[in-house]
Order: sequence, then C-alpha cells, then structure tokens
Amino acid sequence: GDSYDEECDYLFKAVMIGDSAVGKSNLLSRFARDEFRLDSKPTIGVEFAYRNIRVGDKLIKAQIWDTAGQERYAYRFRAITSSYYRGALGALLVYDITRRATFENTKKWLRELREFCSSCMAIVLVGNKSDLTHSREVNEEEGKILAETEGLYFMETSAMQNLNVEDAFLQMINQIH
Ligand code: GTP
Ligand code: MG
Repeated sequence: GDSYDEECDYLFKAVMIGDSAVGKSNLLSRFARDEFRLDSKPTIGVEFAYRNIRVGDKLIKAQIWDTAGQERYAYRFRAITSSYYRGALGALLVYDITRRATFENTKKWLRELREFCSSCMAIVLVGNKSDLTHSREVNEEEGKILAETEGLYFMETSAMQNLNVEDAFLQMINQIH
C-alpha cells in the first residue's frame, strides 16, 4: 500500500534475463512469494514482482522485472527492450546447468545488457536447476570462471529446492546499497 511505500528508504529496479525455460520466473516467484511451479508457462510480455528487504537499518523496495527468454517473444517486444532495461541497477543473468547452450548464450545476454543497461552495476550470473545433478552439462567451476572473467558475481541455485535463491538476489541487492 501507499503508506508502506512511503516508509521505504530506497526503490530499486532489477531485471531477470537469460534463455527460455532456465527458470527466471520461478526464481523470481520463489524470492517474492516463496512459490514454485513445475508446470509454469513461458512468460509473455513483461511481468513484475516486488519485495521489501531490510538491509541494515534501511528498507529497500526491490522491483524486479521479468520477461520471456524466447527469441520470438524478444523480437515481438524488441520495441520495449530499452524500457525493460532503463534505470535498472542490477540483473540476474540465468542459465540452466543441464543445458549447455543456455550457458553459451549468457555471452549474448551480456552483450545486450552492456548495450542497453549502462546503469546495471550489480550483475549476478546464476546457474539454476542445481537439483538436477544427473543431467548436469555445465560444471560449477565453469560458471565461476566465466563470472570472474566478466566481473560478475556467481551462484548456483535451485528454485525448486529453494537453494541459494535468497542469496542470489541479496548478493545483487547488497552490492547496490
Ligand atoms: P521463459 O519465461 O520462457 O523465458 O522461461 P523462464 O526462464 O521464466 O523459466 P520458468 O521459470 O518458466 O521455468 C521453466 C521450467 O523449468 C518450469 O517447468 C519450471 O518448473 C522448471 N524449473 C525452474 N527452476 C527449476 C529448478 O531449480 N529445478 C528444476 N528441476 N526445475 C526448475
Ligand atoms: Mg518466465
């Protein structure tokens, strides 16, 4: 509500990016509402979630934007790409540890991020679905190395098992404040 907004010391925007079906929407719903869905549908257009977080004595309202990773949706909504990124201070760049191509594509997402989001100062590279150990295609070490090379924070998560999800978002939020 409005009165609650007024008590917030900071409002900040962050964005979720990464290929389709890597788990962006489930990471966000886990963080914002502690919800997970095995049968979630691809995101169409842009969705938002909020969460108020206390960092020290400050109350921060995190407004997190989520959109489709699918190329065909990305094209359809190309016109809003710049508004998607505008003013964002942080980004969660997500890949799926069981699909190597989603890891390779993080370089493409980083290029887009650096082109459209000069304000994005806190970027966390997230290897999601760490619960699926038997179908892993990307080692944790590879994620760490990429993050070090590109100057990003890094974390493996499982939205399903609620592993490191909070930490990944807080790592981003703590860099900003
Ligand atoms: P788009 O909106 O199309 O870009 O996809 P997305 O990145 O938002 O993926 P979404 O959150 O919709 O998840 C895709 C599928 O992966 C769903 O079936 C989820 O249940 C599943 N999923 C997400 N996170 C995890 C996880 O940590 N572990 C497992 N096993 N499955 C997950
Ligand atoms: Mg989605």
